[in-house]
Formats: sequence, C-alpha cells, structure tokens
Amino acid sequence: MKKKVIAYGRVREKAKRKLRENYELHVFSGKEEVSDETFAGVLAEAEGIVGLGIQADDGFLRHAPNLKVVSNVSVGYDNLDLEALTEHGVAATNTPEVLNDTTADAVFGLILSTARRIPELDRFVKKGEWEQEGDLPEDKFGSDVHHRKLGIIGMGRIGEAIAKRAHFGFDMEILYHNRSRKPEVEKTYDASYCTLDELLSEADVVCLMTPLTPETEGLMGRSEFQQMKQDAIFINGSRGGAVKEDALVEALKHGDILAAGLDVYQQEPLPADHPLLQLPHVVTTPHIGSSTGATEDKMSLLAAENADAALQGQRPPNLLNPEVWESGGKE
Ligand code: GLV
Ligand code: GLV
Repeated sequence: MKKKVIAYGRVREKAKRKLRENYELHVFSGKEEVSDETFAGVLAEAEGIVGLGIQADDGFLRHAPNLKVVSNVSVGYDNLDLEALTEHGVAATNTPEVLNDTTADAVFGLILSTARRIPELDRFVKKGEWEQEGDLPEDKFGSDVHHRKLGIIGMGRIGEAIAKRAHFGFDMEILYHNRSRKPEVEKTYDASYCTLDELLSEADVVCLMTPLTPETEGLMGRSEFQQMKQDAIFINGSRGGAVKEDALVEALKHGDILAAGLDVYQQEPLPADHPLLQLPHVVTTPHIGSSTGATEDKMSLLAAENADAALQGQRPPNLLNPEVWESGGKE
C-alpha cells in the first residue's frame, strides 16, 4: 500500500505529479485546520505533508501520529515549531537557495516602485489625470535610488543577492546588520557592518530581510522608525511579524519616514480595510517574493524531494532539525 502524503496549499502541479509516482497524494487548499473532519481524517494517517502555511505545533502534531516529515514550500519556517517537531520525531525541511535571485528581484522592484512612486503614477496616467494636468506636478516627483545608502537588516543569502544588485547595478553604498559579520560580503559588495542604530539613522533605504524568530519579532517599532531619516524609505521583504504595523502607520502619518514598500504583513491576506492601505506613500504586494512560475516550480520540486528522501529513510537535503535524524526519527 502506498504511503499517504498531503499536499497542503501552494504546491505546483509538477511536484504533485512527482509525488503521485510513489505516494497516495491528498490535495488540500491550505485553508483547512484540524477542526475540519475530512482534513483531520487524512492527517491521522498521513506520513508526509508538503506545502505552504502549515502551522505545525504540538497541537497539530497530536492529530498526526504517523507523520514523518513536514516539508515547507518556503525558505522561511516561522510556521514550524521545530522543538515540537523534534519531540514528535518528525523531520522538518524548507526550500532555501532556489528563490534567492527571484526574491531579490521582487525586493528591488519594491524599492524602485516606492522611491519612484510607480504604482501611484500608473494610476495617475490611467485615471486621465496626466492628460488633465498637462504635465507631471512637482509634488509627484520621486526620490533617487542610485548612489544612495542601502541598509540591509539580515544579511542571509537573499540579503546578499539584494546587495549584489545594489552595488553593481545601482552604485549604492551598503550598510548591513546581521547576527554575524560576513567578511566575503563586505569585500565583494564593499558593504559596511554596523549596529542597528547606526543603520537606521544613516540609510536612505532600510530593507528588512531577517527571518522571523523570537529575537526579531516586532524588531521595527516606534523608536526604530523614529531613528530613520525623514526622507528614508522602509522596505519589508521578510515577515510581517518583524514589524509593529501600528508603529509603521504612525511613522508614515507623522512624516517620521517618507514611504514604505511592503511584501509581507502581520495578517495575510492583508484585509482591504487595513490602515496601511489608507496611506498614500505605501506600496504593497501580496507576498510575491518567490512567486514566479519557474521559481515556484523549483521550490515545490525541492519540497517534494525533501519529503521523498525522509519517507525513503534518507536524510533530506534541507533538514531543519538534524536532532530528529540523529535520534533515528520515528519508527
Ligand atoms: C517566502 O516568504 C518564503 O519564506 O519562501
Ligand atoms: C531572509 O529570509 C534572508 O535569507 O535574508
């Protein structure tokens, strides 16, 4: 009998096809919770779950006594309680590297869109206001990106791909703050390591790329936004939970900062009546960092490979809790 595997939420067709070769695949939309009877019924028997947005904590795992692997289709894994997974003998995996360039492109798109006010000016043209005005009013001018200071908080592999674009493409000066220094990055992109305070007070563009952990939760609050320059732009390409959104709204309202470009939010999907959306100098995208067809395919296939390895008794390439492997996992 084939082992049961769940595809939960965003899993691309190519990966589903691959999983069906060896497993009995059960596809769910990604909105189901364990209170959903059909989902709970399958979860009780499933040995693997591949997907996006799985909230794998102790409560969830108690409904999944046969589970051997939770395979995230994402690089961020703040949805996974690694301690609980290890305790339950369940391997956890993510999909790093394959999305670095795609996510850096999206972040750079946000930087340019926010600085040059591209979405707002697109509406200006389409609504016929350009035709009415006859010229672009000076109060619609944007600000430059090239030759300015970019501060990257969280110099992981995606941060590096952003630094590469900024240094070689836009002649930007790069400041970064990270748990550890990155001598290679400093050399290659002429980047300067600094404290968070220094970065906030000096950067023209502050770009948040840190994973969401207990240390980074609510990292950007009232005093952090107040330390930023009044003509600086804030970009969030990591996780909404690292920002106190009410503090960001206040900072934008009071003119403590110029504008914000956001791809991620405390609550996703972002409610249409959210206060952030009432402000003029906010550019939003719906968590699209990795969302190109080609990269989503790579992530889904890598997630399928991770799950398959674990279910075949091999160490998954992107194992997040090696303790589970060393202890022999679940029999
Ligand atoms: C996207 O946000 C990811 O973590 O892959
Ligand atoms: C964020 O996810 C990073 O890799 O910097």
